[in-house]
Amino acid sequence: MCGIVGYTGPREAYPIILKGLKRLEYRGYDSSGVALLNADLKVYKKKGKVAELEESVVGKDVHAFTGIGHTRWATHGEPSDRNAHPHRSKSGNLAMIHNGIIENYASIKQDLQKKGYEFKSDTDTEVLLNFIEDIKENNNCTTEQALRIALKRVVGAYCVLLIDKDDPETIIAARKGSPLVIGIGKGEHFLASDASPIIEYTKEVVYVNDYEIAIVKPDELILKNLGNEKQTPFIQKLDMELAAIEKGGYDHFMLKEIFDQPGSIFDCLRGRLNADAGTITMSGVENHLPSLINAQRIVMVACGTSWHAGLLAEYLFEDICRIPVEVEYASEFRYRNPVINKGDVIIAISQSGETADTLVALENAKEKGAFIFGVVNAVGSSIARMSNAGAYTHAGPEIGVASTKAFTGQLAVLAMMAFKIGYAKGTIDEKRYQHLLTELWNIPDKVAQILEDTSNIQAIAEKYKDAADFLYLGRGYNFPVALEGALKLKEISYIHAEGYPAAEMKHGPIALVDENLPVVFVATKDKYYEKIVSNVQEIKARKGKVIAVATEGDTVIPGMADDVMYVPDADEALAPLLSVIPLQLLSYYIGIAKGLDVDKPRNLAKSVTVE
Ligand code: F6R
Repeated sequence: MCGIVGYTGPREAYPIILKGLKRLEYRGYDSSGVALLNADLKVYKKKGKVAELEESVVGKDVHAFTGIGHTRWATHGEPSDRNAHPHRSKSGNLAMIHNGIIENYASIKQDLQKKGYEFKSDTDTEVLLNFIEDIKENNNCTTEQALRIALKRVVGAYCVLLIDKDDPETIIAARKGSPLVIGIGKGEHFLASDASPIIEYTKEVVYVNDYEIAIVKPDELILKNLGNEKQTPFIQKLDMELAAIEKGGYDHFMLKEIFDQPGSIFDCLRGRLNADAGTITMSGVENHLPSLINAQRIVMVACGTSWHAGLLAEYLFEDICRIPVEVEYASEFRYRNPVINKGDVIIAISQSGETADTLVALENAKEKGAFIFGVVNAVGSSIARMSNAGAYTHAGPEIGVASTKAFTGQLAVLAMMAFKIGYAKGTIDEKRYQHLLTELWNIPDKVAQILEDTSNIQAIAEKYKDAADFLYLGRGYNFPVALEGALKLKEISYIHAEGYPAAEMKHGPIALVDENLPVVFVATKDKYYEKIVSNVQEIKARKGKVIAVATEGDTVIPGMADDVMYVPDADEALAPLLSVIPLQLLSYYIGIAKGLDVDKPRNLAKSVTVE
């Protein structure tokens, strides 16, 4: 949510910042801006995507060796030029960008207004910036000291980059709750919300922690805590290649990431699953096996697509490990004073590892003594770092705003965990365990098979692209897939879609069915197959249009459905890893058929770092 970039060193700052902002656009794209510091402090900003900023800056003076840039997802104030970041202080000497929310900004603003401050924007950021300037003037202190004093008074989340006209080579940064990575080059430093703007320049990075302030100059990086004590920067090597964050010949990141899945699921299994030897090696699980086997309850905590992975994991863990599972929306869990007992295990699921609601929910649970296991994609992210143990999904950077390969990575990790725990606990026998391992190992090849020819799905997308509503139905393991299919369609095509357990439709949604309503059935061969066949008939009897995801070789469902998308056969516990693929493609192709920007759907941002 909001992307921030900074540079200080011997190169021209503007092109580095602009390129970085384009890489971070997935975090927000309603306006963007840069502040460039040379003898003078120049600020350029524009409503709209980064390309619009770039266009508006053509011909203007962008010469500078230090600068900061921002791409925004609006919280306070509508998307507009004046609400775009960077903001300038009253004197014009300071400029700041901010990712997060200052919750007590209104009272600070009132105090400043009483002192005669006037505000040009509706943002909390401009308030914080002028608060810093006011402290600086009243206390006759440095910008860094003023920032420290201000941050002790603000409530909320932030990652800020601040520059001062009087100190033209320095960027001061601070974070609490919103991510910040600093890349260390030779005589230069790069700052960003994630590593993607940095990797082409350096692989040495420092992840700044909450409540830390960084004073960044070309040759020097000083880290301090809010108490002004120096901290030792922990330098890590980035394990990421530039190609991983580029489109690689695809029209969109979303399509690339859908097609990445045979490889990304394989990367997740590689080195962990050995179907021939019948072993699963996951150090995060092995090191804590007694806590996991003896868990009285597992609570899955997540948001959005990751929550759907959690729901699927409920089916898996209850079926295979016989451990009671609850699935919680992080945003509800964090506020409703949940009962957390000794012996509870919390499994946190997150692609970005930065989702504010998930992070705070986990911090609360950890304080109450819960054991946190993180299933996270972004290496080194806040959730990964605060978990007691975990397993990365290894899906690689996911840049398309709609989650695709991270979801299948989450399912693969959760399946391995369930199989390993269930086998160790004795709730599945050797035969079933071996069968599940072999089935999981074969999933990447089966995903590749689905992706071999997508022309049928493109044709279905074209046929239904003008529908006003969609219903997605599934049973058992396929119910969370129906929810995920509906979410993907909403996000990418702006078509209203609802996911329901197929049997539940009789309790209300069936009233929606008429000849205009496409109903997508996730109807692969499993123990509910006969029942779902009856549900398809119920829809057909009411003239609904049925689009089915069916198992190859099935003749019954195709005989009833208007359109069919086939997937290979798989054990029902793993079938979602296949049945979700056509649904991802369907939403992608409908979005394309409607001429929409599928990588940057309106109003969304990939990493939701505000609550
Ligand atoms: C949907 C989507 C979101 C995220 C949600 C959680 O396509 O991407 O619903 O799943 O915002 O994000 P993470 O997994 O980063 O915690």
